[in-house]
Amino acid sequence: MHSGALHGKHVLVTGGASGIGKACAARYRAEGATVFVADINPTSSDEIQLDVSDSAAWTALIASLPPLDVVHLNAGIVTPGRTQGDPSVIPLSDVTDEAYRAITGVNLDGVFFGVRAVLPGMVEQGGGHILVTASMAGLGGMPGDVAYTATKHAVVGLVRSLGASLQQFGVCISALCPGFVATPLVPVEAREFITKEMGLPVIEPSRVAEAAMQAIAARSHGSQWIIWGEQIKQYLAPDLGLV
Ligand SMILES: NC(=O)c1ccc[n+]([C@@H]2O[C@H](COP(=O)([O-])OP(=O)(O)OC[C@H]3O[C@@H](n4cnc5c(N)ncnc54)[C@H](O)[C@@H]3O)[C@@H](O)[C@H]2O)c1
Repeated sequence: MHSGALHGKHVLVTGGASGIGKACAARYRAEGATVFVADINPTSSDEIQLDVSDSAAWTALIASLPPLDVVHLNAGIVTPGRTQGDPSVIPLSDVTDEAYRAITGVNLDGVFFGVRAVLPGMVEQGGGHILVTASMAGLGGMPGDVAYTATKHAVVGLVRSLGASLQQFGVCISALCPGFVATPLVPVEAREFITKEMGLPVIEPSRVAEAAMQAIAARSHGSQWIIWGEQIKQYLAPDLGLV
């Protein structure tokens, strides 16, 4: 059941060709939005080719789009050579410089460059919502993929840092923090291990899309949204009282 909550809105979703981004793009469309999908691997001619880690590409993309009401910075990868949900700990020395640069490029630079590119337009039009797909690994220490956990904590920090100060411009920024989600990032064997051996939930991407809609409606500045099993819960870090 959809309410048309995004009727007439322009929405951009990065990493929208697969998994969580694809489910969110479909939900935004169902809610009445015009949705632009940008992905490094577009799967149709309607999708825009974008490497989120390329700041010049961000500038060109934003110049080519109409004013955006919602920007969902969702593209992300695990450290090359790792599998999401693999609990085994690997020595940091096994993470090559190239793998480290790749994951920080997509998961952290991709979000930083995206926020930096879209903010001036939102400030000028007097409003908007930036939604970042972080992870539960952005709130707690996930063993195994240390670099992934570090990048997700970093983007949660970015959201918290900007949350209060963007309020005066009518711009909201918030983070989605899902647990394990059934997408190509978590191969089927890993999903089975997570549910059967670890006893943890693996949810459908549509559940994250539901949380995204709740976050957009709530406009809670600098908030994190925990999506764990059937639970969708808003979380706010302590206010340092600096804004
Ligand atoms: N699946 C999970 O369990 C899970 C849990 C928590 C958070 N997340 C996060 O959700 C987000 C989406 O992941 P997913 O699970 O849907 O994975 P996915 O692999 O299904 O989708 C990721 C998409 O991002 C795109 N992408 C990768 N690098 C890119 C780049 N440089 N520029 C543009 N697009 C790029 C991919 O082509 C793909 O379409 C990621 O940020 C991920 O870290 C996933």
